[in-house]
Amino acid sequence: MKRTLIVGNWKMNLNTHEASLLVKRLNDKIQVHRDVEVVLAPSLLTLQPISLEIDRRKFRLAAQNAYYKDEGAYTGEVSFTMLRDLVNYVIIGHSERRIYFEESLELIRDKVQAAVRNGITPILCVGETQNQRAAGETSRVVHDQVVTALSNLTAEEVEGIVIAYEPVWAISTFGGQVAKPDDMEKVLKLIRHQITELYGDKAAASVRLIYGGSVKGDTASGYLALEDCDGLLPGSASLNYHQFPDIVAAAYRQTRGAGDEEKSNG
Ligand code: PGA
Repeated sequence: MKRTLIVGNWKMNLNTHEASLLVKRLNDKIQVHRDVEVVLAPSLLTLQPISLEIDRRKFRLAAQNAYYKDEGAYTGEVSFTMLRDLVNYVIIGHSERRIYFEESLELIRDKVQAAVRNGITPILCVGETQNQRAAGETSRVVHDQVVTALSNLTAEEVEGIVIAYEPVWAISTFGGQVAKPDDMEKVLKLIRHQITELYGDKAAASVRLIYGGSVKGDTASGYLALEDCDGLLPGSASLNYHQFPDIVAAAYRQTRGAGDEEKSNG
């Protein structure tokens, strides 16, 4: 069984002291659970100190971004090579990076490839804007984002990655409309279907698909109950030491429920 993945995207929030305080509070509230993997994505600046403070049985770390070249004259950038001993995951292609920093499909493809080359699991974010959704373009947009981003990976490499479906209109930064879980399931299914077409059944079954966009403690279970949803990527709720543990607790309940069902069926 795949472990449910809960990734807290702290974005450009919390200085070192604040980040350390939040980790302490989360540590008090979050338990180790076999079937749930909890990942924190602090700013690049706080990754190093946080890496020394976390209980590694409870938390793993993700970077929010990195540059695709391994080293060299790229002022201001940090490479995947530099992050390889520090993080297990890296968020790539988040809509804030696509929109505010004009990251292209090709740049995101190169970053995904660089992450894999350096042994870091990419969490590839895809999703359509409100206008694209209104124009009926969701499938095309998501299809293009997925196909281009993964185009330099082998089927075996695709098996190990994470794809986060985050409709732009549902992210708190861009309006934060609450997305209906059933609508989200349609797109998650579509993504899994694309992976089957491109990389085969094994890759499609192994790749983890997670949902993000204004997820809170009380909405988490609606998404986690979806057949194709393997986890969540909360942003603003991940900065709140009540909300984030509530989301993780929803994941615990979900996996425990699934375990009981298996037991009663067997
Ligand atoms: P949000 O952010 O939960 O604040 O909408 C999610 C994200 O941007 O990853």
